[in-house]
Amino acid sequence: MRFTERVAIVTGAGSGIGRATALRLAREGASVIMADWSEEGLQETASHMPADATHIERKLDVSDEDGVRTLIAEVMDQFGQIDVLVNNAGISGGSYPPVTENEKGDWEKILGVNLIGAMLMIKHVAPHMQARQQGAIVNTASVAGIRSGAGGNPYSASKAGVINLTQTAACDLGGFNVRVNAVCPGLVETGMTKAVFDYARSNDKEHKLGGRCELRRYGKPEELAAAICFLASDDASYITGQALPVDGGNTASLNLPGMKV
Ligand SMILES: NC(=O)c1ccc[n+]([C@@H]2O[C@H](COP(=O)([O-])OP(=O)(O)OC[C@H]3O[C@@H](n4cnc5c(N)ncnc54)[C@H](O)[C@@H]3O)[C@@H](O)[C@H]2O)c1
Repeated sequence: MRFTERVAIVTGAGSGIGRATALRLAREGASVIMADWSEEGLQETASHMPADATHIERKLDVSDEDGVRTLIAEVMDQFGQIDVLVNNAGISGGSYPPVTENEKGDWEKILGVNLIGAMLMIKHVAPHMQARQQGAIVNTASVAGIRSGAGGNPYSASKAGVINLTQTAACDLGGFNVRVNAVCPGLVETGMTKAVFDYARSNDKEHKLGGRCELRRYGKPEELAAAICFLASDDASYITGQALPVDGGNTASLNLPGMKV
């Protein structure tokens, strides 16, 4: 019950990692505000909430500053404090064309949600944390922000940006006892990766998914939720500005084909 009497906002709570995180925060005592642009997804997450949990669901596009401002004002009116912000909403963009075929509009859309959306949420939440000299922000980055090969060019750049935003925001807010960290998931079965899993299963290749990770398997949303909740909790009270890979060891190794028996 690390989040008793704490108020947490989770973006992208309508699916996958955000859903698992919202549910874990609620099970550990938090009042949870779940924001997502999918109302259907939010309803589904809400249906799994513990019966005694305090939670509200709000449709939000994190790249819309007016919407972000309105949501944060509403949360402050209702709860009077925000202790935890999980910036998790994200889009992948689908296909992975080479840089020579990249479209400016695709970059703007993906950076707008994944990076600028995270910045907007921090911009409007952090002043309330600063005022109370207390708060924890966790951003969902990706192994794609560390190395190429786990997403398209704009997606990888957006996640590298999230890692750097984690560092710069941690420096801006550290003096106010507000911590900012990130997780970098490897391959996790969620809405975002559904096509990959569907393809692998229908072609008898499921055993290959995550096979290049040192743990030889893909991850579960609950395993990301555990790491996010650790970083959001007082258990991580001396950790800020860090990006933690939660990837089965994927980024620990070059894992070159032919180098291992
Ligand atoms: N699944 C993976 O393998 C993996 C790996 C690395 C990083 N990630 C990151 O994890 C985070 C969560 O993704 P997921 O895998 O759970 O995917 P998901 O598609 O299951 O969940 C993402 C959620 O974000 C919401 N969303 C998208 N754009 C939004 C916007 N503009 N405003 C508000 N909500 C929005 C979607 O509606 C969805 O509910 C993302 O940031 C993603 O980039 C996922």
